[in-house]
Amino acid sequence: MPYIESSEKKGSVKVALLGAAGGIGQPLTLLLKTQLGAKILGQENKQLELALYDIAPILEGVSADVSHVNTPVLLKHYIPKDRDDESALSECLQGASLVIIPAGVPRKPGMSRDDLFAINAGIIRTLAKGIAGNCDLSKVFVLVISNPVNSLVPVMVEELAKEAKRLEIAAPVQRRVFGVTHLDAVRASTFLQQLTNYSGNRVPSVPVIGGHSGETILPLFGEAQKELGFSDEQLAKLVHRVQYGGDEVVEAKKGAGSATLSMAYAGYEFASNFADLLLGTVDKINVTTFISLLDADKAPVAEGASEVLEATDNTEYFAVPLEVTAEEGIVKIDTSFLTQLNENNTRKLLTACISALKKNIELGITFAS
Ligand code: NAD
Ligand code: LMR
Repeated sequence: MPYIESSEKKGSVKVALLGAAGGIGQPLTLLLKTQLGAKILGQENKQLELALYDIAPILEGVSADVSHVNTPVLLKHYIPKDRDDESALSECLQGASLVIIPAGVPRKPGMSRDDLFAINAGIIRTLAKGIAGNCDLSKVFVLVISNPVNSLVPVMVEELAKEAKRLEIAAPVQRRVFGVTHLDAVRASTFLQQLTNYSGNRVPSVPVIGGHSGETILPLFGEAQKELGFSDEQLAKLVHRVQYGGDEVVEAKKGAGSATLSMAYAGYEFASNFADLLLGTVDKINVTTFISLLDADKAPVAEGASEVLEATDNTEYFAVPLEVTAEEGIVKIDTSFLTQLNENNTRKLLTACISALKKNIELGITFAS
């Protein structure tokens, strides 16, 4: 009975978390074990495996610790024996349909995200080779958390595309790689709530587009301003706080790293959508995330992409609200946000965003080529 076979297959999901022993990786492991476990509790036709990978030996302890949590998520961990051991990464990734990547170094005070590129781009390249060799590139979703997101997503896309070509696999990888910018939307919502004393325990939702660093982060507070009536001066402060929210945490941690707990929360919220999709609970999801707007043949990646390219002076990668299905990846970009770009305050921000973002993207593409 093909129908039953495919639905059973749809309900069995392997999630790989690369960089699982780190500041983000540890709380994200806990969230995935607990919250994904709650999603499948009591549902016999659904299975979830969480495969943890890190080069740090402490992963063994993290895994032992979290494995005592009594949810139905099967937990495994993989640590390479030495620098040349590729088998741990391969085994971790084998058959994974969702790969989440917080592997890489974080910032210290005085550093920009770009300062992380030299080290983290090398890590992303290694992980991309592992993904291409062990996952089905026409089915896997790859979520990149590591910084600088604006440059590392292009590295991941280009590396996967190269590997697909080398392996002679026709896979539209551009439609399945996502830069995790959701923390910016979480911050925009929180800061707006703090500013306006948003009442009744309601959490405002604020779309954030563009990229993930400084002026490339473009929060769209226009609708909220109309609804709640705050001043342009307050708006400018809000925008600045969202754009530099990461710095607040880096400075407060005084050299011990950057956002980890809020990132794990945002990372889980974001990844949870993909888990629902892969478990077959929903047919499509709507997320806002940093993607390639162009396919391998340089045609717009999906419906709506050409409008975004036009509005952003052909910026190849951009965070946009979009629709994703398990089979096709990105299917449609929701272009309704474009009208907000014409507002006076936003126009200036967009120009600065595009100029910085293009340089970040170029850095990633050049590295990969
Ligand atoms: P961390 O140093 O605490 O953890 C990183 C982990 O990656 C470590 O456990 C390390 O052993 C591991 N690692 C290093 N090289 C690896 C490799 N080749 N393979 C597998 N694992 C490897 O750092 P963190 O605080 O967890 O931050 C991780 C990354 O996430 C940083 O680049 C940071 O800037 C970024 N970040 C992004 C966002 C976002 O909004 N997208 C938010 C916060 C942090
Ligand atoms: C953040 O926004 O908190 C992250 O990108 C980490 C950082 O370096 O600021």
